Amino acid sequence: MVLDAVIRIKNEIDSTLTFRRSCREGICGSCAMNIDGTNTLACTKAIGEIGGSVNIYPLPHMPVVRDLVPDLTNFYAQHRFIQPWLQTESTTPEKEWKQSRDDREKLDGLYECILCACCSTACPSYWWNSDRYLGPAALLQANRWVADSRDEATGERLDDLEDPFRIYRCHTILNCTRVCPKGLNPAKAIAELKKKMVERRV
Ligand code: SF4
Ligand code: FES
Repeated sequence: MVLDAVIRIKNEIDSTLTFRRSCREGICGSCAMNIDGTNTLACTKAIGEIGGSVNIYPLPHMPVVRDLVPDLTNFYAQHRFIQPWLQTESTTPEKEWKQSRDDREKLDGLYECILCACCSTACPSYWWNSDRYLGPAALLQANRWVADSRDEATGERLDDLEDPFRIYRCHTILNCTRVCPKGLNPAKAIAELKKKMVERRV
């Protein structure tokens, strides 16, 4: 994998080379970088898939802390903004918040996000407006909680997105969906959110 090559460079050629990695199996999201022109995870990108020399850069259009390490402070703040936790008003059940099998399936394609930031940093709209546009990763997470049958804050969650920039700066460019290394579809999640925002008005 490309991550093995990067580790080898650090071990044998330049010990100052700085990058993030942890799980080395596509779960933690920390090794996201731009490899051969595409944002992806270094630990799941096979060197054999590329052929020839490989150009590696930090995730695009983010402040760089050092070498391959982008500053994700704003990205994480946007995740915090969508309040990624279950919000309820009903009395807390003794054991657990139950969910039907069908309702649980509505979270498939949403809960698997590893917050690697490949999608948001591949989005031109996010490059231009990342101070006000939440970006595909945070919006996919927003839809994950709106779609959760147990959550009782749907109205407030949609209210928080009613803004000219926070969601409506998605222009369906689809770079997010093209690059997601987990095979998720942030563009579809954003479209579903927009649909729910329109539906509640009519
Ligand atoms: Fe990464 Fe995909 Fe989640 Fe975006 S949607 S942060 S690309 S796992
Ligand atoms: Fe965890 Fe690559 S090291 S996703």
